[in-house]
Amino acid sequence: MRNLVDILDFSTEEIDELVEVALDIIESPEKYADAAKGKILGTLFFEPSTRTRLSFTSAMMSLGGNVLGFDSAQSSSVTKGETLSDTIRMVSGYTDIIAMRHPKEGAPIVASTVSDVPVINAGDGGHYHPTQTLTDLLTIKRRCGRFDNLTIGICGDLKYGRTVHSLISAMTRYTGIKFVLISPDELKLPDYVKADFLDKCGCEYSEVTSLEEAIPSLDILYMTRIQAERFADKNEYERLKNCYELTAAMLGNAKESLCILHPLPRVTEIAVDVDDDPRAAYFEQAEGGRYIRMALILMLLKTKGVNDRRGGDAMPDTSLVCNNPHCISRTERGIKQLYKNGCCIYCDQKAEKV
Ligand code: CP
Repeated sequence: MRNLVDILDFSTEEIDELVEVALDIIESPEKYADAAKGKILGTLFFEPSTRTRLSFTSAMMSLGGNVLGFDSAQSSSVTKGETLSDTIRMVSGYTDIIAMRHPKEGAPIVASTVSDVPVINAGDGGHYHPTQTLTDLLTIKRRCGRFDNLTIGICGDLKYGRTVHSLISAMTRYTGIKFVLISPDELKLPDYVKADFLDKCGCEYSEVTSLEEAIPSLDILYMTRIQAERFADKNEYERLKNCYELTAAMLGNAKESLCILHPLPRVTEIAVDVDDDPRAAYFEQAEGGRYIRMALILMLLKTKGVNDRRGGDAMPDTSLVCNNPHCISRTERGIKQLYKNGCCIYCDQKAEKV
């Protein structure tokens, strides 16, 4: 049995296969109409969502399967004090596959250790969002025709933007990728993402603040929302919330082949006058989420055998503590604190000495 906790759980060959299946579904949806007949998807959303939850629902219905779940923690027994582990144990008895979103980083790892059915991470705090990355990759394939030799500008909230972290980790496995990381100083990419992905693969990247100066060199421009819900200091959010706005007038020097992406929802970072530009691909990107999630559900339903649970080679270490306030290990009762290479296995952040 396989889970999708972070995008690197899948090889590049598996990602290629998912993209190919999604393209085939787009071409011939009728072939897949009963492909998951009799199967049940659980959608457990402890945080709000429009695209991810509804595209998973649409995907399972389009495969002939059924869906059950909840769309907020408030409508679940979490409000009575139930742990995530107990919730997942219950739901894995009612379903064949689970897609979950949770505000705590590493929550899907905890879920995968107790679930008897595949667990899909549909976003965990400011950490990862691997199914958004699959959606991004499908759009890149359709628009650019390749995953190699691309200059990718990522603009906005690189600190809390989980879609950014997953996209970077996925793209560092391809050749000839250059990143232009566009953000204010306060919202730069976290050190663990730089260390684990960019530095490890020797990927070329620059960190800049000007969106306008970056645009002419880009093959892909990935705009992101400033993540209001992740800021501890609301005044800082107010100060930074309008730091970038892409307008049609700014695209004069952009490549004709530029692909403009955004995981959505957008607030003010892309003006509506960009929507009519043929280079704007973000609505097509969101629509594609349905098809790539169909391919993903089919792939995971087929997997059998040993659960690829996390933490097999991680160790308890009483001299270390994870001080990330957003990590699931800080709140979930009864889970083991585990570390690998000095980092917490749930949130990937460097642990501190007690
Ligand atoms: N892109 C994305 O995750 O959107 P939702 O929050 O609406 O699911």
